[in-house]
Amino acid sequence: MSLSDQDLIKELQQLIGAEHVITAPADLEPYLLDWRKRYRGQAIAALRPSNTQEVSAIVKLCVANHIAIVPQGGNTGMCGGATPNSSGRQVVISLQRLNQVRAIDTSNQTITVEAGVILQTLQEAAAAADCYFPLSLGAEGSCMIGGNLSTNAGGTSVLRYGNARELCLGLEVVLPNGEILNSLRGLRKDNTGYDLRDLFIGAEGSLGIITAAVMKLFPIPVAQWTALVATPSAEGAVELLNRFQAGASAQLTGFEMMSDESLALLKHYYPALASPLAGNNPYEVLVEISDYESSEHAMQLMESILEGALESGCASDAVIASNLAQARKFWDMREHVPLAQADDGPNIKHDVSLPISAIPQFVDTCNAMLRSKHPNIRIINYGHLGDGNLHYNVAGPSSAETEHFFTTYSKEIQALVYAEVEKLNGSISAEHGVGQQKVDYIEGHRGEVAFNLMQSIKKALDPYNLMNPGKVIKL
Ligand code: FAD
Ligand code: MLT
Ligand code: ZN
Repeated sequence: MSLSDQDLIKELQQLIGAEHVITAPADLEPYLLDWRKRYRGQAIAALRPSNTQEVSAIVKLCVANHIAIVPQGGNTGMCGGATPNSSGRQVVISLQRLNQVRAIDTSNQTITVEAGVILQTLQEAAAAADCYFPLSLGAEGSCMIGGNLSTNAGGTSVLRYGNARELCLGLEVVLPNGEILNSLRGLRKDNTGYDLRDLFIGAEGSLGIITAAVMKLFPIPVAQWTALVATPSAEGAVELLNRFQAGASAQLTGFEMMSDESLALLKHYYPALASPLAGNNPYEVLVEISDYESSEHAMQLMESILEGALESGCASDAVIASNLAQARKFWDMREHVPLAQADDGPNIKHDVSLPISAIPQFVDTCNAMLRSKHPNIRIINYGHLGDGNLHYNVAGPSSAETEHFFTTYSKEIQALVYAEVEKLNGSISAEHGVGQQKVDYIEGHRGEVAFNLMQSIKKALDPYNLMNPGKVIKL
């Protein structure tokens, strides 16, 4: 027989301490609402364990009482994956107190961290040991490495260093039955059967709770140069990318694109971040080159590639940041586009990836189809062009109309965009994951064979469907 909620809470309090079992409505509220304010749920409690054993004990108690668990890191996810459902029969397990850097091995170039370590803290711990941890995204001041791994986060340096999956060498995971899987080995080669680690990365908490990870470190680049480049079209932006890939190869560490409407939105909400480039450019691209030789070497490379691009016409204007503050401003411009969108109201969000060669066709076709049906919409198209990843977001004609536009046209516009993605062999989730936002699209997108395999894996690991149910895949 299951415990009553009151008795369950008492047992949880005994396991992790009363002050870490949050039930008061005002204290619980932040755990029940997602960053975009699109999903709100209910929970019996939010739990803040301090170590892996406590996480394991909570999971065992919840399984014994048929209580579903929603893992939560920094709660910056874009798909409602960390938000409980509305049943009030779930608990949130926050990893925020598992926040220790367990070890740094500079010779092996690895760092072992607990899941609740904030991404920026990880970057700073690496820097303090004279190393570089490259995962970087706008939410790095609050997202946590366990959340980054669970969403297989991308961000702005994927084209050089890979996404969270590629940066991870080992994991510690509390399984849906409460057992602890420890594979915290910092090995770059290990062919001893099925790769269990990769199952949990990108699983969005649906197969277990990541409690710690071994992550790769890199040498700190000697120099970085950043430029903002205007380009006349999506085709021009792709040609510019190809020129930088050919000319700079692995030294190309950032290639981010913003459309004119993204820049207009940014200028409206953050005037100090208006583009320094003249005119109303269809697209502007932020390019970053990193160098292990010298600052002069990097600068020469940047200048010579830009010269060629300006001559060819794929670039129409460019400014190279003359100091760190200006480089920071270019990054701030890019990173504030989602913040400007949040200020503006709801938008129909697409996090798509495509073969880079297909991006001009995708953008031109979708823009034309959408504008012919809704002439005054704003297409806030920006993203990680170097990874073939666009945040192709669609908003109503003005801020005042966003809510109405969102509720009326979300389904129709999403269907149109996703149909184009499928036609071009792309993905409907490049880096944000599935969560509850895209769960109904997964069967169609992945196809029957892959979907059945995913269901079999979920059932094998989580037979009672208690680990973040309703996210990623429905049973
Ligand atoms: P949460 O939001 O707390 O959780 C995300 C998912 O992971 C949920 O399903 C949750 O249940 C699960 N989860 C969390 N922790 C664990 C754990 N320890 N074990 C098992 N499951 C867990 N994302 C990108 O990829 N690239 C970007 O460039 C980017 N930029 C962003 C900019 C802004 C301003 C914001 C607000 C978000 C951005 N994001 C980006 C999205 C978000 O930051 C990432 O998805 C991030 O990886 C989520 O981490 P989190 O700790 O906040 O996870
Ligand atoms: C970004 O690239 O800025 C993030 O993924 C956030 C977003 O898509 O809004
Ligand atoms: Zn992104």
